[in-house]
Amino acid sequence: MPEHFPDTFRIPLPDDFHVHLRQDEPLRVYVHDLASSFGRAIVMPNTTPPIRNAADLRRYRDEIIDAAAGYPWFTPLMTFKIAESHSAGQVRQLAAAGAYAGKLYPQGATTNSEDGVPDIRAAWPVFEAMQDSDLVLCIHGEDPTSFVLDREDAFLPVLEEMVRDFPRLRIVLEHITTSRAVELIRSLPDTVAATITVHHLLLTLDDVVGGFLNPHVFCKPIMKRPEDRAALAEAALSASPKFFFGSDSAPHPVGAKENACGCAGVYTAPVAMPLLIDFFERHGSIAGLREFCCERGRRFYRLPESDYEVSYSRKPWTVPERYGVVVPFRAGSTVVWTGSRPEPVQGG
Ligand code: DOR
Ligand code: ZN
Repeated sequence: MPEHFPDTFRIPLPDDFHVHLRQDEPLRVYVHDLASSFGRAIVMPNTTPPIRNAADLRRYRDEIIDAAAGYPWFTPLMTFKIAESHSAGQVRQLAAAGAYAGKLYPQGATTNSEDGVPDIRAAWPVFEAMQDSDLVLCIHGEDPTSFVLDREDAFLPVLEEMVRDFPRLRIVLEHITTSRAVELIRSLPDTVAATITVHHLLLTLDDVVGGFLNPHVFCKPIMKRPEDRAALAEAALSASPKFFFGSDSAPHPVGAKENACGCAGVYTAPVAMPLLIDFFERHGSIAGLREFCCERGRRFYRLPESDYEVSYSRKPWTVPERYGVVVPFRAGSTVVWTGSRPEPVQGG
């Protein structure tokens, strides 16, 4: 039986283990929207130009920290974009610069991945170096040469090979969308986990193309079938430590979405927590919400408990039509939960 939540409750400040913050001026807006709700975030490196080396990583982190000046609880956790040409020395330098993870983008799989890895096996030495430096490998797990609905499942055998060849490498299969991915992750050792987004928990392909085309929920990997969504929900609600929250919040200006060549990405940062609370109230418990958003990801990444807490109240608000030039997920609709300003944990 789902638990009816009290009208106000408190949990540790949630973390987001997969987000896109872009760069330059818009970054300020996106950092504000994210840091209003989250304490730590794994920041994706598919900027233009990409985050490839230690100098890029330091510069990008400084820009984010500068933009987050009003949010003392917020810490960006940096990543780099894997190239098969990365040397072991460069990987060590990235680790020394404070990288938490490297992100593998198969070439052509998604936004800004033209410079991704064309032949995954050619990057095996990079994974070896990452394992030696104890970096996490984050994967956009799609084979872009397959039919669009089959791309994630087509990637799974490659993941199995990686797990076999790098038994100490911690791997996160990002934004999973299929029941087969859920099943495989469950069956693999504890070094392997997966993030789940709020949009994949709530939508199916019908919401994207079943009626009128909705470009604002077009993303990669594309939403799948109702039974896939049900498997994701079960995984998020389960007691498994392997499934945790990563929003994949991915802002694109409205003109890049409402376009004949519309970009993939859903901007969920401003509404992710209210929607997750609603989801856990309908299907789970506060303890489950806390595990999914505050505990499992940080344990996998070996981070301490948050020093901050937030309280959520049943105070409905209408999602704005725009955040700057970006249309957010659920624009114009009413969401029920409002978060407080995060506060340091008492006695912490
Ligand atoms: O929909 C997506 N948008 N999926 C990704 O993997 C990348 C992201 C982006 O950067 O816009
Ligand atoms: Zn992403």
